[in-house]
Amino acid sequence: EKGNYRHFMEKEIHDQPEGCQHTIAAYVDTLTDRTRVEGIDFAGLERIQIVACGTSYIAGMIGRYLIESLADLPVDVEIASEFRYRNPSLRANALAIAMSQSGETADTLAAFRHCAQAGMKTAAIVNATESTIAREADVVWPIHCGPEIGVASTKAFTAQVSVMIAIAIAAAKARGRIDGAEEQRLVRVLLGAPRLIAEAIGLEGAIKDIAAEIAKARDVLYLGRGPMSALALEGALKLKEISYIHAEGYAAGELKHGPIALVDEATPIIILAPYDSWFEKSASNMSEVMARGGQVVFITDPEGARHAPAGAKVVVTAPGCDPLISALVMSAPIQLLAYHVAVVKGADVDQPRNLAKSVTVE
Ligand code: M6R
Repeated sequence: EKGNYRHFMEKEIHDQPEGCQHTIAAYVDTLTDRTRVEGIDFAGLERIQIVACGTSYIAGMIGRYLIESLADLPVDVEIASEFRYRNPSLRANALAIAMSQSGETADTLAAFRHCAQAGMKTAAIVNATESTIAREADVVWPIHCGPEIGVASTKAFTAQVSVMIAIAIAAAKARGRIDGAEEQRLVRVLLGAPRLIAEAIGLEGAIKDIAAEIAKARDVLYLGRGPMSALALEGALKLKEISYIHAEGYAAGELKHGPIALVDEATPIIILAPYDSWFEKSASNMSEVMARGGQVVFITDPEGARHAPAGAKVVVTAPGCDPLISALVMSAPIQLLAYHVAVVKGADVDQPRNLAKSVTVE
């Protein structure tokens, strides 16, 4: 039920602290602050192959950043519809992960079967534990965010990212890349994420004010680096999906390789840049687009706000956090932005035109 909310999407955005908390609780032991990701021996793995579509694919991209950097375990993440038809070169000593809220996405299922046939061990990260993908998997790692009704995925996304973070920590520990004390520190960071997500949702009033302006745009550009480059794709996907405004997400380093040609006064540019190791680079991209008349919405954290070049149209200051969980904390602002733009435009938020919640035919 929607309760006091106008749309399921709005409710589901607000459900995220709880959804993530339940999900995280399933993958960590709160008595010992250790991870508890069962069913796979990460120490013996040679690689991970993630297959997924849409927002689930973007959650997989964020997983790749975290797993590779923390656990030094190679991760490939691919759009399932491409993977299934291109004869990928697969090895048996790899783990295939299907990332799917519904567990019924036709392309993801087909790609997953492909991996199983190649002898790979298979794990499913799903919301629907009775789904086809869950039934066919060797291991099921459910997200525990409750049913998602809105066609635009929100709470499933942050729950998927929560599982990816738990896997990254567990794999890093199993592979000897971090010691027990570091595992405990990271688990405590993860356990702190729901409170910070709630704080980020508290930015809703400020984001609503920006939405009226963005709703007038014809095109919107989202930029970020590292995990924020994946979140830039997610911001653009959410916006186009429910508000029908053309939006593009780009790794900010690609700016000069094409998208900077789009920059003019009429194109809002949303830059996602917490104060992390990529910050300086993103800040200089911000200066570059402003020099060309670009109207920047800078979504950052308190330290980033202090170091940002002057001249952004708006600075949105999300709570500061460890880089491990920044994708979780920065999700709410972009989801809320898409939501409020769609509301301003009078769009059917929960049932966007031409889209289905579950894409069971290719
Ligand atoms: O159920 P799945 O996670 O497999 O669905 C994948 C995509 O269809 C889904 O994430 C889609 O992109 C959403 N509408 C995005 O908001």
